[in-house]
Amino acid sequence: MSVLICGGAGYIGSHNVRAFKAHGDDVIVVDSLETGHRASVPNDVKFYEGDIRNSEILDKIFTENNIEAVIHFCAYSLVGESVEKPLKYFDNNVGGMISLLEAMQRHDVKRIIFSSTAATYGEPKKVPILETDPTEPTNPYGESKRIMEKMMHWVSSRYDIRYVSLRYFNVAGAWHDGSIGEDHKCETHLIPLILQVPLGKRNHITIYGDDYPTKDGTCIRDYIHVEDLARAHILALEYLRSGGESNIFNLGSGDGYSVMEMINAARKVTGHPIPAQIGERRAGDPARLIADSTKAQNILRWKPEITRMEDIISTAWKWHQSHPDGYMD
Ligand code: UFG
Repeated sequence: MSVLICGGAGYIGSHNVRAFKAHGDDVIVVDSLETGHRASVPNDVKFYEGDIRNSEILDKIFTENNIEAVIHFCAYSLVGESVEKPLKYFDNNVGGMISLLEAMQRHDVKRIIFSSTAATYGEPKKVPILETDPTEPTNPYGESKRIMEKMMHWVSSRYDIRYVSLRYFNVAGAWHDGSIGEDHKCETHLIPLILQVPLGKRNHITIYGDDYPTKDGTCIRDYIHVEDLARAHILALEYLRSGGESNIFNLGSGDGYSVMEMINAARKVTGHPIPAQIGERRAGDPARLIADSTKAQNILRWKPEITRMEDIISTAWKWHQSHPDGYMD
């Protein structure tokens, strides 16, 4: 039996491919390579290039292989772009989920682990955030992920399909040996942008606002290492395998770090002064996003292990130093 990883050539997907392999699962990847990188998937993993909205490729994969479960990472994920082009997001993200669930139903595949996001909550009324808190997304990206969760809910209550939706907070870092990591064509995330300064690719990092109601005025986020995140997917699948019911879990450390603290941690790791300038606030950024992951700790027995920001940034630094121009594909 194999595990199908949809979007396994992306940043988070590729780390999951390695983690599931290391765990002893037989892994198969499908990825359109629109934002993913072929080089991030090991050569001994069976790879299909294609878009999951195409039911023919899904039929081919499900027919040629004995798929036990699907881990679903295919989605556009740029918040700003989603505001500019909402239909592009609904088409790809929601459309992909419809196609995938239909194929699972056609081929009798009963388990799906889904890559969801803290963006489903929108601007939180309180932190830390619980899974039962209101979900009021403030952008089409978060809305598309919430719709995908709801689709799984209704499908699972009608058919014999069970799902786990994992709502990630700020995913960061790279595989421990620096062989794979974050390589986005359009980089918007804080840690890779900070590290572009010591790499000589930018002169300074811009802090998007220092007038938030936080300890140093900069935004606070809950950073989670991508390998800890991958381990949660393995535990989520074990949970479904042992009969667990469909469920939603937050994945974060429960600790918040400000943008300023992240820059200081990166200065320590790289030994570079990393000049910072204060810029305008970025539209739609909540002041604080912190997860309450007690539910994942209690039910999945998951707990993040890499929790020092210096350790998280060190792995990202290892990747960027050894691949200053990413995968170059
Ligand atoms: N930031 C800066 N300067 C930069 C880049 C980011 O100050 O050059 C700040 C942002 O304003 C924010 C923090 O750094 O306060 C983190 O920003 P990221 O873009 O790295 O991450 P986000 O918190 O915006 O986004 C993450 C995920 C999204 C998800 C969102 C949920 O990357 O996919 O959390 O709210 F939608």
